[in-house]
Amino acid sequence: MNVQTEDKLSDIRTSLTKVSAHANIALIKYWGKRSIDLNLPATGSISLTLDSLKTETVLRFDQSLQTDQFTLDEKPASKEQIKKVSHLVDIMYGSTVRPKFDIKSSNNFPTGAGLASSASGFAALTLAVSHALELDLSAEDLSRFARQGSGSAARSLFGGFVEMKCGSDLQGDQDFAVQLFDKDYWDIRMAVAITSVREKKVGSTEGMIRTAQTSPFYNSWIDSSKDDLNQMKQALAEKDFEKMGELAEHNSFKMHGLAISANPPLLYWNASTVELIHKIRDIRRSGVQAYITMDAGPQVKVLCLPGDLNEVCDTLKTTSGVQRIITARPGPGATVEVIE
Ligand code: PMV
Repeated sequence: MNVQTEDKLSDIRTSLTKVSAHANIALIKYWGKRSIDLNLPATGSISLTLDSLKTETVLRFDQSLQTDQFTLDEKPASKEQIKKVSHLVDIMYGSTVRPKFDIKSSNNFPTGAGLASSASGFAALTLAVSHALELDLSAEDLSRFARQGSGSAARSLFGGFVEMKCGSDLQGDQDFAVQLFDKDYWDIRMAVAITSVREKKVGSTEGMIRTAQTSPFYNSWIDSSKDDLNQMKQALAEKDFEKMGELAEHNSFKMHGLAISANPPLLYWNASTVELIHKIRDIRRSGVQAYITMDAGPQVKVLCLPGDLNEVCDTLKTTSGVQRIITARPGPGATVEVIE
């Protein structure tokens, strides 16, 4: 499927490929791996792609380059970041012997701070590489490649509400993402309160490995997440906002409880995160349907209906330590924008 032989080098587009992809936030979280090598998830997950969190990536293969070049947010990427990107390109190309790339990627939101920049980043990269290499991939196959860059990236290829499936073998044939409902299916909102733009100390892969190795609750998390996934599909199908919100919030707290039970504990929150949790619970008691979800970082994401967005944002704004608020609607899937 993906092997490029020497005589096919000329088939590679050496022109620019520009791609955009949007971050997604999980309503049912992925936390745990069945296989590290193929990056196979230990649980299925469901996410919402967000219109206002966007990565733009420009890629060009260049036979004259000696090494891969990767610029992230207008700065040279770290060795570790280049290694990850090169590895995914090797896999897609089918060999480590290939033309080198020049990639420039930028996010309109803080990178590596628990806002799913790896999801939109690897989704954009996968689509750009497949386009440049003229790989004729199905959406499922594309998502299998994106998954190998970052588990959540498989979901960012699609817009709206997306499920990442979890297979049972170690080949990964059943581990791919599918769209459940497109971005116009349900007009809900997410307000994201940014409480720190620092990169997280423990990345998701290290966190997941540590959790699986040390938490006494890991197996219960895996078992209970199957039921959460089915319930979430039902809540979405019924457009039952309360059921969806309560379940998303419960699943997120369960993931953080699990992470805290790792040894050493993984505590992704700061003081503002905790204050925000209390405030959102307070406004809910006064009748606002607002539900919290959080990822591997201190940002608080609040799900609400359009009519409650202003009140939710006012609540977030008046909390100490909140640096910025981003509001979002369900967003589109990854697209190839311009080819020069
Ligand atoms: O895709 P990764 O390796 O960045 O892991 C994502 C982990 C969470 O954001 C915490 C949960 C999720 O499903 O997105």
